Amino acid sequence: MSTTPIDRQDLIRMIASEKTDERQVLYDNAYRLKLEQVGKLVYFRGIIEFSNICTKNCYYCGIRRDNTAFSRFSMKEDEVLDCAKLAHDYRYGSIVLQAGERNDPDFVSFVEKVVRRIKQMSDNGLGITLSLGEQSPETYRRWFEAGAHRYLIRIETSNRSLYQSLHPEDHDFDRRMACISELRKIGYQVGTGVMIGLPGQTEEDLAEDILFFKKLDVDMIGMGPYIVHHDTPMAGKSPEFNPVRQLRLGLNMIAATRLALKDVNIAATTALQALDPRGRELGLQAGANIIMPNITYTRYRSSYQLYDNKPCLDENAGLCRACLSHRITGIGEDIGYNEWGDSPHFAKRRFEYK
Ligand code: 5AD
Ligand code: SF4
Ligand code: FES
Repeated sequence: MSTTPIDRQDLIRMIASEKTDERQVLYDNAYRLKLEQVGKLVYFRGIIEFSNICTKNCYYCGIRRDNTAFSRFSMKEDEVLDCAKLAHDYRYGSIVLQAGERNDPDFVSFVEKVVRRIKQMSDNGLGITLSLGEQSPETYRRWFEAGAHRYLIRIETSNRSLYQSLHPEDHDFDRRMACISELRKIGYQVGTGVMIGLPGQTEEDLAEDILFFKKLDVDMIGMGPYIVHHDTPMAGKSPEFNPVRQLRLGLNMIAATRLALKDVNIAATTALQALDPRGRELGLQAGANIIMPNITYTRYRSSYQLYDNKPCLDENAGLCRACLSHRITGIGEDIGYNEWGDSPHFAKRRFEYK
């Protein structure tokens, strides 16, 4: 494989690639590089979507504050523990705790306590990733000290003016940037990502997103196609929404990111499966190496829809596990049970900084 560094023009070409045979070459190259850099094991992060209460109002998201079309829930501490226990029994190496964004003291203490209890319950076995948005440095520190070691916070788009067009005025791009650097300073493994195929987003923007990931030197990428949610302000602004294009762009971005960043963890996100039943396998075959099986109680799933057509709403954790393992072995890959599955990028970075 060529060792010349990938530049902006190369990225744009990859992202814009449309022809089937051309895309296959791109995915095959990314797949080969993935095997070389991170291996053939797919790591599971069991995701618990423990509350849909959100204080923010992002224009694209189904659980935004102003959407009153569904009921709000917050799981009890014991319920979250129960889901985490299931993940542990299933030998998932780690879990992700995700919820709408809240900054009040009760919420901060709740998360702190839950993280501590999960660590205790699993005898430090389960790795914990948080995906809880923008918080104060003090909150990030408390959660880190309680035992969380990874944090996902998407930049959504690295194009500042596009970011602003997707959010109300008080959702601040610079604040999000500051959160990412604070998280790094505290010692979290940080993951970021973007939505792909947003109205008004160009292939150049997406290439810049990948350069942004590289510049930030992040350890993990979680990105997925933008999908319309019918009850949002953006629904009316997405007239040319085309699922085929969204899937293609999503896969092209995974492959281009693998080729550019090499040894990071990249998730094949659920949004891919909302566009195509085989979306997540296709993501793995285009260079991703992480899957986030849903382990939330079934009764809460239908109230946690960030976008339309979200899969697995009627299934439970056991069914998703069986379904995913079947899908993964079906494409000749193996699952890395009982391992945290940190990215080699993180391991190298830590070694260099010692
Ligand atoms: N389509 C795709 N992804 C979405 N998210 C929120 N709404 C949508 C949507 N309509 C993503 C955002 C957020 C993550 C939790 O979910 O990128 O960071
Ligand atoms: Fe809340 Fe996150 Fe949805 Fe924005 S994307 S409305 S912060 S849950
Ligand atoms: Fe949930 Fe297939 S992953 S049913």
